[in-house]
Amino acid sequence: MLSENTIKIVKSTAPVLAERGVEITSYFYKTMFEAHPELLNIFNHANQKQGRQQTALANTVYAAATYIDQLEVLLPAVKQIAHKHRSLNVKKEHYPIVGEFLLKAIKDVLGDAATPEVLQAWGEAYQVIAQVFIDIENEMYEEANTNKWEGFKAFKVMKKVDESSLITSFYLQATDGSDVPAFQPGQYVTVRLTVSGEEYLLNRQYSLSDAPGKNYLRISVKREGAEPSKLGKVSNYLHDHVNEGEEIELTAPAGDFVLDENNNSPLYLISGGVGITPMMSMLKRVADKQTDRAVTFIHAAKNSEVQAFHQEITETINLLPNARKYNVYENPTASDREKKTFDLEGYVDYQKLQEIVTDKEADFYVCGPVPFMRNVIDGLETLGVKAENIHFEFFGPSINLKEY
Ligand code: HEM
Repeated sequence: MLSENTIKIVKSTAPVLAERGVEITSYFYKTMFEAHPELLNIFNHANQKQGRQQTALANTVYAAATYIDQLEVLLPAVKQIAHKHRSLNVKKEHYPIVGEFLLKAIKDVLGDAATPEVLQAWGEAYQVIAQVFIDIENEMYEEANTNKWEGFKAFKVMKKVDESSLITSFYLQATDGSDVPAFQPGQYVTVRLTVSGEEYLLNRQYSLSDAPGKNYLRISVKREGAEPSKLGKVSNYLHDHVNEGEEIELTAPAGDFVLDENNNSPLYLISGGVGITPMMSMLKRVADKQTDRAVTFIHAAKNSEVQAFHQEITETINLLPNARKYNVYENPTASDREKKTFDLEGYVDYQKLQEIVTDKEADFYVCGPVPFMRNVIDGLETLGVKAENIHFEFFGPSINLKEY
């Protein structure tokens, strides 16, 4: 239990953390990696370079300072992060390292403002916050253990299929012959690669793009960047070098952006670009288990050249008597116009949603790049859809804990 005084000090430092949070967390990462370069085998270097991880951590630290006396408010956000930690094999012994360098960063960046009392209070608060994460992650590890899948496991690529000019699917089976575990549609796996010439292991998360219950796991990867640049290192390597018969390592499925299968409410699955992957898993699950469910599948792509799963969507929708789909193309080709491969032109925004959405009480799942998500979520809110009915997942670290 934190004392009244500790709580007061932590809360009073929240504004400073908001102001200098990214500075503190950037310094924190730099000094931590200098002392513990082995942690670079866990962290995503591209996120680091873009500053996204620093922003995500700073936002969380700020939120934790603000709600230090009612951390239960943060539980949904903590759970989401804990899923990511579990999928990256973050362990309880890592927490003291993060704590040490976070406190050092607060001390060094804030200078005189970080009095011994402030540092003492933050030291205590970190213990409490870390314990919340450790307890939740422990439960998640136990669950993964019951599925006999702790840590990374080798999977063989059984099949590799081009879904569009940019997206390729990998069908994966465990090398040791063990069964594919159940997972919830919408979940992701962490892929870990050893790449020659790279000093550290590379980790990335990819949503599972097929329904549970198959004898394989499928991920569908978009080639990022025009060439193997620092942004697209893993995706380009998978496209160019990981072929049928080769192995990659995966952790057990994780994530809480999942289809609620306990109700049969009308469903809107709205995706942009490669955000289509979790939606494919959800759509195909509905086709397996909830065939009478009303589903509207909305997908935004530039045009048919880069749109994945065109045929698979049509075939799945045809299995569902209450389903419809909208292909929304930003920039249709002449052939798209001729062959009518799309239904609407432009962006998925308020106007389009107004035309399409017939049930504001439905459940809405949204996934795609940040500007797409903003357009869709703002559009749905303007239409009067309640926030609790809008479920969404950003790519990359959650950069904005906007609910708090
Ligand atoms: C991701 C917070 C402890 C390793 C994240 C994210 C947040 C966060 C906000 C972004 C989640 C997302 O991707 O949506 C925290 C807090 C911690 C903590 C508040 C302490 C209380 C740790 C520890 C480790 C760790 C001890 C291991 C050394 C990671 C990694 C990611 C991550 C590897 C994935 C992000 C990437 O690679 O870009 N954490 N974390 N975290 N965290 Fe933590």
